[in-house]
Formats: sequence, structure tokens, C-alpha cells
Amino acid sequence: MEEKEQSGGLHFVGKKDELIKAKRSFRTLEGRDVLIIYHQGVFYAMDCYCYHAGGTLENGDIEDINGKLCIICPKHKYKITLAKGEGLYRGRNPQEKPPVFRWYSKGVKQRVHTVTEENGEVFVKLVMIPNWVDSDYYQGEKGKVERAKT
Ligand code: FES
Repeated sequence: MEEKEQSGGLHFVGKKDELIKAKRSFRTLEGRDVLIIYHQGVFYAMDCYCYHAGGTLENGDIEDINGKLCIICPKHKYKITLAKGEGLYRGRNPQEKPPVFRWYSKGVKQRVHTVTEENGEVFVKLVMIPNWVDSDYYQGEKGKVERAKT
């Protein structure tokens, strides 16, 4: 699909009904590969390649983990929250008696972008703050080379 660019870095990514039907849509915006997800009535956008080793998230399952919706990377099953791009992991504190497994956050690992809708059209604005998020590593030409190695 041809992208109709809007002022202020807003990118037209498709008609709402088409994106709902597709559920997952891949777009390249300003040279960045982005996955747009429609899940339970909400649109999300995030970098398409997993921060861990560049696996594509397009076919990842979505699960509720500890009250947060996560996409599960098909490659090594890392869990990434849809809303913020946090990496979640399960661990236990050995000082706790007895130690109990809980979900913890590693912080934001996957860059997520802003999705807006207007008159049945959907737009994505790339969010480039902070300067570095781990998923940046697998974007662009250099990222393509790195993805090929894994
Ligand atoms: Fe995603 Fe390893 S590449 S979990």
C-alpha cells in the first residue's frame, strides 16, 4: 500500500476496517519496519523485530501476563508488553522464604509508536524518545545484516 505522509511525522497506515480485518499489518515508515496490531478493540504499533535477537513479531501470540497484554516472540518466547514495549520475565527472589515465581519487568526494550485514528483512517507517529531502545539494533540496513546472523 502506498503511504500517504501527513505533516508532523504522522504516517497514514491504512483504513481502519482493513487494519482490523488484517489484525497484524507490516509497514515501513521512514525506513523503520513497524508492526501494527489490532487486538481487543485497540491498535498498537511497535518495532517489528524483537529486541532479543531480531525475530519477527508478526506471528507472535498475544497473552495477558500479570494484567498486561504481551506479544510472545515466536523465536525464543520473550514476552513484550503491547502498550509500553517492556520486556517481562519470570523470576524469583531467593531471599523470599519460600521463593515464589513472579513476573518482573526489564524496562522498555521494544520501541512502541503512537497510533491515532481519524475518520476511519489510521496513522502512526514514530516515537524516537529515548534515543536508544534495544529493538533499534535490528532496524535499518545494519539491522538487516544483524538479523541475518541470528
Ligand atoms: Fe525474540 Fe529471541 S528473538 S525471543
